[in-house]
Amino acid sequence: MLLGVNIDHVATLRNARGGFEPDVLTAARICKDCGVASITTHLREDRRHIKDSDVEAIRMLPRTRLNLEMAMTDEMQEIALRLRPHAVCIVPEKRQELTTEGGLDVESQLERAIKFTKPLLEKNIEVSFFIDPDVHQISAVSKTGAPFIELHTGRYSEVFGTEEEEKAFQDLKGAAIFAQNFGLKVNAGHGLNYQNVGRMHEIPNLVELNIGHSIIARSIFVGLEQAVKEMKVLCEG
Ligand code: PXP
Repeated sequence: MLLGVNIDHVATLRNARGGFEPDVLTAARICKDCGVASITTHLREDRRHIKDSDVEAIRMLPRTRLNLEMAMTDEMQEIALRLRPHAVCIVPEKRQELTTEGGLDVESQLERAIKFTKPLLEKNIEVSFFIDPDVHQISAVSKTGAPFIELHTGRYSEVFGTEEEEKAFQDLKGAAIFAQNFGLKVNAGHGLNYQNVGRMHEIPNLVELNIGHSIIARSIFVGLEQAVKEMKVLCEG
């Protein structure tokens, strides 16, 4: 499995003082030099962490694959079509949430999802929808033309180590296999950490894991390079 590192929380720390430190682009460079598959950033509607200028700067980094997480809004579509990141992951967004809570409901807005996806694919941007492990959502995504889903691992991460873990894990595994039978490629992420990431190897053919908070948190103690390298070993197995 490949590792994509979400560096949003480098920007969270920077914005706490409104200055320039820690520098988001330096973080992206360190991750890239560790050989990660993607640098992931979520440009939120309220710009609470990553800013437009961060995304633009990361996009200009040579030999760096940018995965832009964004809501399904006209503004974000315009930004993606202009910047042409390598991939976009379409996520739900609520202003009051602390982080992305729950996957996107693609089924109830399928027409919009199809219209949203088409111009992105025409620009050769890889499109993925961030969804819960739910067969209805998977079959909806299969109708959009998007080649990828990203499975929301939040529930699994939350109940990891409790008696509810097995059910949450089997839901993820079943959903991944179901999606692959539809011809979709499967990424996963949210809440994954150094303890719970190992079981992702039990899910066949996962392409990439997107991991942010636990890596940035560990980097405070061991440095970003070390934190990324440790996670990369756990992902690549
Ligand atoms: N994938 C998606 C679609 C996300 O929205 C997030 C959180 O921004 C992540 C992965 C990474 O989650 P975490 O920071 O909990 O590792």
